[in-house]
Amino acid sequence: MTSPKDGFAIHADAILKAVTPKTRGIIINSPCNPTGALISEGEFRTIAEFCGQRDISLVVDLCYERLIYDPVPHNLPKILAELCPEQAVICGSASKAYAMTGWRCGWTIGPAKMVAACNAIQSHATSNVNSITQKAVVEALNGVQTPVKAMLDEYRTRRDNLYGWLTADPRIKCLKPAGAFYMFPDISDAMAAGGFKTSIDFAQALLDEKRVAVTPGEAFDSPGFIRMSYATSMENLKEGSRRLVEFVQARAGAPAAAAR
Ligand SMILES: Cc1ncc(COP(=O)(O)O)c(C=O)c1O
Repeated sequence: MTSPKDGFAIHADAILKAVTPKTRGIIINSPCNPTGALISEGEFRTIAEFCGQRDISLVVDLCYERLIYDPVPHNLPKILAELCPEQAVICGSASKAYAMTGWRCGWTIGPAKMVAACNAIQSHATSNVNSITQKAVVEALNGVQTPVKAMLDEYRTRRDNLYGWLTADPRIKCLKPAGAFYMFPDISDAMAAGGFKTSIDFAQALLDEKRVAVTPGEAFDSPGFIRMSYATSMENLKEGSRRLVEFVQARAGAPAAAAR
C-alpha cells in the first residue's frame, strides 16, 4: 500500500515483505495508474536483485513510460537486463503515448518461454492483433515522435490546471502526478463533511447529480480517494472540476477558510 504522505512512493521492502513461498511473480507499474507515481531506480534495483536470486518473475508494466513529466532517471529495462534478465517481463502498449486505445495493441518482452506462454493464452482469449494494427503501431513506434512530446506538454498543462481548479476547495487534496494522466485526490475531508461513508457513494451521487464520472478509490483498495482521468479536453476538465467543487460545497458547505 502506498501513501500520499510520500507522494505514493513504492517501497521495495513493503513489496518484498509480502513475498511468500507461493509467490511466482511481482508486478510493478511505473508510472502508476492511479497515482501517477514513479518507482525510483534504487527501489526497483532492490526488487530486481531479489527476483534475480529466486524463481520469481518481475513483470513491469511500462505502458505510461513515455508520459513522464520531468527528466528523472527511470531506465527500468536496463536494471532488469543487469539484475534479472531471466525473470524479467516488460509490458508495453500503444494505447497511452500514441492515443491508440481503440486499436488494442500491446506487447510483451521477456524470456522466450514466457512470451510463448503469453501467446498461447492470448490466441485463445482475444485471438490476434490484426495486421493493419501491427503496421500502424510499428509506424507509431518508429515514426516521428514530436506528437508524443506535444501531447506530454498538453497533459502537463491539463494536470497543472486541474490541480488548481480542484484545490480551490481545500477538502479536495491533490498531489501533482509525476507521470501518466490521472489525478488521485484524497477526498476524505469532503466525504466526512458531506456525510458520505464511502467514495463509491460519493462517486455515485456526483454522477447522478452533476453528471461527472470519476472512479471511486475502492477500485484501487483506497477508500477516501477518487481517480480522475485528464485524457479529455481542457473544457471538459474545467467544467467537470467546477461541478465537482460545486457538489462538495452543496453537500459539505463552504470550506472553513471561506466561511469565516
Ligand atoms: C497500468 C495499465 N496497464 C495496462 C493498461 C492496458 O491498456 P491497453 O489494454 O489499452 O493496452 C492500462 C489501461 O488503462 C493501465 O492503466
